[in-house]
Amino acid sequence: MSRVLSGLQPSGDLHLGNYLGALRNWVADQDAHDAFYCIVDLHALTLDVDPAELRTRTHDTALDLLAAGLDPDRCTLFVQGHVAEHARLAWLLECTATMGELRRMTQFKDKSAGKDSVRVGLFTYPVLQAADILLYDAERVPVGEDQRQHLELARELAIRFNHRYGPTLVVPEGSIPTIGARVMDLQHPERKMSKSVSSPLGTVLMLDEPDEILRKVKKAVTDTDNEVRYDPEAKPGVSNLLELLAVATGSTPATVAGSYQRYGDLKVAVAEALIELLRPVRERRAALAADSGTVPALLAKGAEKARAVASVTYARSAEAIGLLGPD
Ligand code: TRP
Repeated sequence: MSRVLSGLQPSGDLHLGNYLGALRNWVADQDAHDAFYCIVDLHALTLDVDPAELRTRTHDTALDLLAAGLDPDRCTLFVQGHVAEHARLAWLLECTATMGELRRMTQFKDKSAGKDSVRVGLFTYPVLQAADILLYDAERVPVGEDQRQHLELARELAIRFNHRYGPTLVVPEGSIPTIGARVMDLQHPERKMSKSVSSPLGTVLMLDEPDEILRKVKKAVTDTDNEVRYDPEAKPGVSNLLELLAVATGSTPATVAGSYQRYGDLKVAVAEALIELLRPVRERRAALAADSGTVPALLAKGAEKARAVASVTYARSAEAIGLLGPD
């Protein structure tokens, strides 16, 4: 089975875009692949975050991932900070990467723009991400379009390391979904659903209650020509609703469009489909949260499985680069 790895920041409430765009694929990958999923708490330190809150979010992100359907018996779910080799390999890769290539990272440029104090970790963020990937000999890395440049860097660093020190690291392939789960904000259908743009009404959270989902979908922005038709350019709001209904019911937007005449009816159908889609997630989340011992025990097991792989790759890399082994 080929190895896949992906990472998620512990940044709080997951939304429908996370679920449809990423997590559902992670769940599906568990069976056909040897899947590693990492909650990247070290990456969260690159921006200001309250210590107690980071701890809580890391724990709750694990709960959310389990609720979404990750199964620790079928994948390796772990916290980045529990596996010391991430920081250790990151150092070897920092001595492989150059200032110039990190300066070109658009995410760094965006996140540092206009700030007078920028953490060094924000600059080296993509190198730590490369370590996450390369430690596990990951062949495929499912990520969103916004991570394309970071993935390209990970590939480049693996190639350079191998060229300099001999074949050591597996060069990963990206896996960026092209169409399908493109979930747009319900209030601003021209932009992606996201937690960072503060539009609570436009963002359906993975754990929203049914009445909350219904409320948000009913308030979704449409247009005034009152025709249910799939046309993302001219009718972004209606098209987003059709896409949501299509992914939630395993159909296509153009097909579902044929079944509705009125926006109101379409909205009710979308809300009902989303409520059903997310029901098992919400129910699993409640059941898991009832036992406070579950997550720590599962994460301890995950860390152990991750360490078993990471320690071998790190030792191989340290040896290749010329560090004297401890034994
Ligand atoms: N930077 C990624 C994001 O913001 C998260 C991430 C960290 C990641 N390490 C990773 C993704 C390794 C894939 C593989 O989405």
